[in-house]
Amino acid sequence: MVADSIKFSAPGKVILFGEHSVVYGHPAIAAAIGLRALCEVTRSNEETITISAPMLFSDQTFTISEKSIVPTELESFKHILLLLSRSHENGFIPKVELSSSIPPSAGLGSSAATAVSLTASLLEFYGHDHDLETINDIAFESEKITHGSPSGIDNSISTYGGGIIYEKGVITPLTSKIPSSTLVIIDSGIPRQTKKLIEKVQKKKDVEPKNVQTIFNKIEDITLDAKKYLESGNIRQVGNLMNENHELLEKLDVGIPFISNIVDFIDKTDALGRKLTGAGGGGSVIALYDDYEYAKDVVSDFVINGFDAYLTNIFETGVKIEE
Ligand code: MEV
Repeated sequence: MVADSIKFSAPGKVILFGEHSVVYGHPAIAAAIGLRALCEVTRSNEETITISAPMLFSDQTFTISEKSIVPTELESFKHILLLLSRSHENGFIPKVELSSSIPPSAGLGSSAATAVSLTASLLEFYGHDHDLETINDIAFESEKITHGSPSGIDNSISTYGGGIIYEKGVITPLTSKIPSSTLVIIDSGIPRQTKKLIEKVQKKKDVEPKNVQTIFNKIEDITLDAKKYLESGNIRQVGNLMNENHELLEKLDVGIPFISNIVDFIDKTDALGRKLTGAGGGGSVIALYDDYEYAKDVVSDFVINGFDAYLTNIFETGVKIEE
């Protein structure tokens, strides 16, 4: 018997340290954030699977079959739907509604969070176990369709939640002692495409292998130091290392002038550290503070100046069922 409505949510993420080098097997640290994607699956009266995603395509509904054509943004979700309906056929047809408070193309893991919440909901709908490993594996396949050759960190942090250190597919939980409520996220409003940025770094690595390898090694050292300082709660050192990581990302050419402007503005505040997060080329900047009220004022300043800025908790719960 399938429940009338099945809902799972999954968090977006910030990469605190180690984006890009993680694609080449170096460690990275990610944290789940308080912005979430939600998937609701109900039993449809129609004969075919349907999906709607108002955050991307306001009031359109798309039919899913092997032959149906969907917008690029939905390709990976179509893959999950076909995969799970093929292998777990129970005769029921799902009607899927996606929603999300994670801004798309902002480097905050919106595609992974949606893939994770969709996978969990469908596994439940078809009466299958939704253990975290299965959810994560299926969401990773979906991420490959969207981003080409991602490391798998986005789907992993969205599935498991909290904080993780991720290296070559191995997920190790990280217990941080820094406050979970003083990280500010500023969305530059310039959409970035992870796939293109991964390709850009790959090309740079082909042309300047030694230089890029040196940058990756330095990012790895920073990431491992940051792990220590997160675990001991040394927020000042965590901030310093964020600054260093940012400079190295600029050396990888994934910064853009507009991101530098945001960073310059943050440097006029009492931030302990700041860096771009995710693939770069646009997307978001994160800034660390040690005072919640002060951080709130920084967010207000950015919002007054027309930015989407968030003071959101980090180390949040991974994928979970919603009532
Ligand atoms: C994307 O959130 C982070 C990158 O390192 C890509 C990846 O790890 O898949 C740029």
